[in-house]
Order: sequence, then C-alpha cells, then structure tokens
Amino acid sequence: MSVLEIRNLHASVEDRAILKGVNLTLRSGEVHALMGPNGSGKSTLAYVIAGHPHYKISEGDILIDGESVLEMEPDERTKAGIFLAFQYPVAVPGVSVANFLRTAVSNVRGYTAQPVEAEGRSGLIGSNLMPMREFRRELNDKMKEFNVDPSFARRYLNDGFSGGEKKRTEVLQMAMLEPKFGILDESDSGLDIDALRVVSDGINKLATPDRGFLLITHYQRILNYVRPNYVSIFYGGRVVMTGGPEVAHMLEEKGYGWVEREFGEAVAA
Ligand SMILES: Nc1ncnc2c1ncn2[C@@H]1O[C@H](COP(=O)(O)OP(=O)(O)O)[C@@H](O)[C@H]1O
Ligand SMILES: [Mg+2]
Repeated sequence: MSVLEIRNLHASVEDRAILKGVNLTLRSGEVHALMGPNGSGKSTLAYVIAGHPHYKISEGDILIDGESVLEMEPDERTKAGIFLAFQYPVAVPGVSVANFLRTAVSNVRGYTAQPVEAEGRSGLIGSNLMPMREFRRELNDKMKEFNVDPSFARRYLNDGFSGGEKKRTEVLQMAMLEPKFGILDESDSGLDIDALRVVSDGINKLATPDRGFLLITHYQRILNYVRPNYVSIFYGGRVVMTGGPEVAHMLEEKGYGWVEREFGEAVAA
C-alpha cells in the first residue's frame, strides 16, 4: 500500500505562477480522475510530479509514503514508482520498442546501477542491462496479455505510430515497468475510439490493488470506460472540488462555465 501526496503545491514557469496550492492524495488501488478546463494547469501538475526541470516549486511538497521526491531527478522518481504518460509521446527513429523497454526496465529494476566489472563483463554492450533472454520472455508474455502484436517489438519507438498504437506502447510500458502510480495526461485528447479502448482496457487490467492511477482529462468520455473512485475538478491551478463519479456527470451536464462561475472568485482572491 502506497500513497502519493501532493501538499499545498505552488509552482511557476518563467516567473508565472501556475500551480497555486494543489492538494491531492492518491492511494494504491484507486483511480482518481482530474478534470479541468484548458489552461488550468493540469499538464503542469503532471510535469512537476515527473520532475521537469523547467518548473520552479516555491511552496509545498510531493511525497511518496511520506518521503519527499522534490530533490529527486526524473529517473529517480521513475525508480520510486512514478510513471507518466503524455498525450504526445516523441518518436525515436532508430530505437526499437524492445530496446527502449529493455533499457527502461533495466534502469527501474536497478540493473544499470550494478558495477559490471564485478562480473568480468565490463565493456560488453548491454552488460549492465537485464539479461536478454529473461527480458524477451517477459516482454512476450506481457505482449500476449495486453494484445500487442509481436511485430511491435522491432518497430522504432512511436515512429509513424497511429494514436491507438502509441497508446498500446504506453500500456505495454506500464505493464513492464510496474509503477506504483500511473499518471496519464490525456487532456484535450483527440483519441479515437480505438485508442480510447486501448488505454481504458489497459488501465482496467493494470488497476490492481497495489497501483494507483491519476487520470488527467478534459472530457469525461474516458470515464465511460474506466470507472474512477474519485473525481476532482482542477481550476485556476488548484483542486477546487473532489467527489465520486457523479462529479464527472455533473461537469458534463453543466460544463466548465459552471466551474468558472462557482470557483472563479475564490481562485482570484
Ligand atoms: N513552458 C511554459 N511557458 C509559459 N507558460 C506556460 C508553459 N507551460 C504552461 N504554461 C501556461 O500555464 C498554464 C497552464 O497550462 P497547462 O498546464 O498546459 O494547462 P492544461 O493542461 O490544464 O490545459 C497556461 O496558461 C499555459 O499557457
Ligand atoms: Mg494539458
């Protein structure tokens, strides 16, 4: 059982305050949807949690099981169990999905930190990676489990991938890295129905009692496929309201104009 806690978080980019006191708790076993209008700072929150160097934190904290991650580099945060998926993942021509995953998994599981000299394997390419045979077996199993075509492994990462294929890669990545917390920024998403099914099936499979999900979204559409335990409304750089799935339905009915009227003054104050 793990807890990701965001406490009174204030952050700015280029001297402009974006996050203005975010409070949010995500426990393993929970799916928490974070919904808000464009420009409210949802993606900024995701970047700040991941440790993007562009953002300055002036106040507050981000803790995993009571331990602050603020001093951690992005890769250390990944090791600590945070996984972030962005809506527009970059293409990396020349790097296959399999190679990318082997490197990422090796890093998260501590293979790359082992001194290779100790085993007399120094200088061998891949000598500080997860052993190929072991990796292959696990990758094949997970590809089967998550309905990913085996040909995917050889393709260059996100290069010419359709929206659905990118999402498939993302789900596979989560399945391999086994994070404690999955943070998915799907906001303003132009996901087609295929991509939407892929992500939601993936989340539903991966939403085990030992893992929490923060689902960042502008639209409530994905919540027809993934049922959240909590829905929070994000507005003006903070969480202004938290409730159950009914909050998403209310938003769909009343729209974000209602949020602005209801919380606009409180945020400006
Ligand atoms: N790198 C940046 N430089 C300047 N302003 C930024 C930067 N990133 C985000 N912002 C501003 O921060 C605000 C919040 O953006 P964002 O976090 O992307 O919101 P959301 O994901 O909710 O649409 C916006 O007004 C945006 O213009
Ligand atoms: Mg965004």
